[in-house]
Amino acid sequence: MTYTLTPARWRELRVYRTAETPRRLALINRKGGSGKTTTAIQVAAALAAWGVRVRLTDGDPQFASSTYWLPPQRPAGYPTLLDVMLGDSSIREATASTTVPGLRIVPSLDTLGRVDAERPPGSDTLLRDEYDDDQDDVDVEILDAAPSMGLVTVSMLTAATHVAVCMKTSTLDYVGAAELAKPLGLIRKRLNPTLETAAVVMADTDGGTVLSRSLDERLVQEYPGALVHQIPHSVRAQEAPGVHQPLIDYAPDNPVTAAYWNLAAAVVPRLGLAWKVGP
Ligand SMILES: Nc1ncnc2c1ncn2[C@@H]1O[C@H](COP(=O)(O)OP(=O)(O)O)[C@@H](O)[C@H]1O
Ligand SMILES: [Mg+2]
Repeated sequence: MTYTLTPARWRELRVYRTAETPRRLALINRKGGSGKTTTAIQVAAALAAWGVRVRLTDGDPQFASSTYWLPPQRPAGYPTLLDVMLGDSSIREATASTTVPGLRIVPSLDTLGRVDAERPPGSDTLLRDEYDDDQDDVDVEILDAAPSMGLVTVSMLTAATHVAVCMKTSTLDYVGAAELAKPLGLIRKRLNPTLETAAVVMADTDGGTVLSRSLDERLVQEYPGALVHQIPHSVRAQEAPGVHQPLIDYAPDNPVTAAYWNLAAAVVPRLGLAWKVGP
């Protein structure tokens, strides 16, 4: 189901939580450049526009990450995800506001790689415990993972209630996603038995090609029950990080933005959220 609403109509929608249980969506693929960060920012911004209190955690040590896109609004030197993972800070202390109302971020720097070098004991369950301890003013956590199965990714997958697999329409991205089956199986078996695959996002796709159609069909079979959603190619998606705005602000009338509004809308019931009807 695809909705064609005007940008103003999309913004008027409101969403509420139906229960106190945590909602934590991790964006994953073992390959970089598969649209995880782009999807994380747009879903987070759309939910925030609908009145959901969102916290986005940046789990990628690359410079080109959600921290670059939506920088924390505070002076340098504050704690980041690294400090949380090393036990020197709580997630609350590392959480900062962004320029987007209702959307806060736990930023990361390239130093996040130290986690895998120092291997702090207990990191598997650390983020789950941190989010559990600080959920009073957060409705949805969005977890933007790194393209590797390092300790931060494992900690995110243990904390998550849902994952969305992101991929571009390329065979390599598809293979990167297929490689998730084994680690996701182990995560479910050992650490997080109720982790659900909510969506497969075909980011930056040209829906008309034979390859995108055949991937789409394979994905529907391989991820039964998951939403398979296509996002069209747009140069605006490549420009938006440079102006530090989500697409709903930077390119409100572009088809890529409409596709992301629709993805966020489709995710709403899967995250146990509901639409508010009436004033
Ligand atoms: N719909 C799209 N159209 C065009 N380019 C896109 C689109 N989505 C993502 N990109 C570009 O693809 C690259 C990788 O996307 P990104 O979200 O950073 O992936 P990841 O977080 O998985 O590494 C970026 O340069 C981004 O601007
Ligand atoms: Mg990324």
